[in-house]
Amino acid sequence: MSTTQRAAIENHRRMKRRRAVPFSLLAVALTGSTLAARSAEPAGERARELVRMVRQDCGACHGMRLTGGLGPALTREAMVDKPLDSMTATIYGGRPGTPMPPWRAMMSEAEARWIAERLARGFPEEAPR
Ligand code: HEC
Repeated sequence: MSTTQRAAIENHRRMKRRRAVPFSLLAVALTGSTLAARSAEPAGERARELVRMVRQDCGACHGMRLTGGLGPALTREAMVDKPLDSMTATIYGGRPGTPMPPWRAMMSEAEARWIAERLARGFPEEAPR
């Protein structure tokens, strides 16, 4: 067998090994989302979307670190003592007469509540992609 052939075979084996990884990741993702659905948390991919939305879209007004900008700070310190129902209503329905827009077209009320809860606990960072 020539060196080139051997290299080709070795390469092929390596590709196979690499291809095996996404399948195990998929299995983990599926198991994760099933568990998330049961605990009323948004499922894996949706949770990532919501985290991204808060960091990017809400961050545009509330600051990229959520420490305040046009809108007030949404840090754990700022949010921990605020009533959850009122914060949920603000996110879902907006605050008429202020720049705070309603987000009902982008998320369910349960998801707005999840965001309000997560803000009060300290909002997660965006997962690296
Ligand atoms: C266009 C700018 C803008 C965007 C985008 C925006 N907000 Fe706001 N937000 C505001 C302003 C301004 C206020 C203060 C309203 C007032 O004067 O009561 C506010 C208020 C709030 C409050 C109430 C805070 C408090 O201390 O009472 C929460 C919670 C909130 N926003 C969450 C969010 C979330 C979550 C998002 C993204 C899904 C978001 N906001 C996107 C401008 C914005």
